[in-house]
Amino acid sequence: MSGDPFARTEPRTLMAEQHAAANTAASALTHGHPSSATPPAVTLEGVQVSFGDHVAVRNVTLAIPARQVTALIGPSGCGKTTLLRAVNRLHDHTAGRVDGSIKLGDIDVYGADTRPELIRRRIGMVFQRPNPFPAMSVFENVVSGLRFNGVHGRALLRDAAEQALRHAALWDTVKDRLHQPAVRLSGGQQQRLCIARALAVEPDVLLMDEPCSALDPIATAKIEDLITRLAADVTIVLVTHNMFQAARVSDQAAVFLLGEDRVGELVESGATDELFNEPKNPRTRDYVAGRVG
Ligand SMILES: Nc1ncnc2c1ncn2[C@@H]1O[C@H](COP(=O)(O)OP(=O)(O)OP(=O)(O)O)[C@@H](O)[C@H]1O
Ligand SMILES: [Mg+2]
Repeated sequence: MSGDPFARTEPRTLMAEQHAAANTAASALTHGHPSSATPPAVTLEGVQVSFGDHVAVRNVTLAIPARQVTALIGPSGCGKTTLLRAVNRLHDHTAGRVDGSIKLGDIDVYGADTRPELIRRRIGMVFQRPNPFPAMSVFENVVSGLRFNGVHGRALLRDAAEQALRHAALWDTVKDRLHQPAVRLSGGQQQRLCIARALAVEPDVLLMDEPCSALDPIATAKIEDLITRLAADVTIVLVTHNMFQAARVSDQAAVFLLGEDRVGELVESGATDELFNEPKNPRTRDYVAGRVG
């Protein structure tokens, strides 16, 4: 957004401190792959996620362009959330098994030398229901990721919190109640707080799992506007049930459907306009025409 004093083109002292802290804490992300040389886009090849014998989603080959919005759409149960969680290694804590290849730039997300904490710092996530840490204030929520990454300077944390809250279009609303419990905010405000919390560590990629599904139309419009503005700096992957939302905010879209065996699969992907107006696959055509799902 032009004129935004917090545009990410500004020199970032925070970045410097964060990188120093992250480097001290964790040395490099992978051996021989300095993170600064890595383009911030995600590539999935032949990805499949299964829980025990049950394959949740398969055949996912998809390039996610940097600094664009990619929408993942499809009916309930086709594996959208499961796939999103695979991208920043949240299945490390479930029984989910991820096969195939997921890369963040050149970095193999599941490489033996790749540290999951740093993948999660570079790939942030916003969940379907706003989930601020309930025992923490607004301020503490926003800076929690920075503290986790070793940033402790009070002035830096304060500046970073203001910047992230402005970026998430929440600063004016909360600047006088930064030290109140986050759970006193409305649902839409809590979701913007969660976006601010994710942005505070300056991720390259932001995964958003139906971030508007618990919100009213006005709060939804604010988040959609935010998504469009954030995409100037951050690569966004947006899961949505809402094809109108996908059409409004995404540059490219990927359609997931359930196969005859009830396994989710990627059916078609491409520029959103083309995918919605001239789908190549008959299954996509039926889905976008509202005939299935
Ligand atoms: N932790 C888990 N253990 C076992 N099965 C799981 C787990 N998480 C998801 N699944 C299964 O994976 C499949 C895909 O679920 P997922 O939540 O990814 O779908 P979705 O496309 O996000 O659906 P929705 O649109 O309703 O959010 C479902 O069959 C689900 O039961
Ligand atoms: Mg889901």
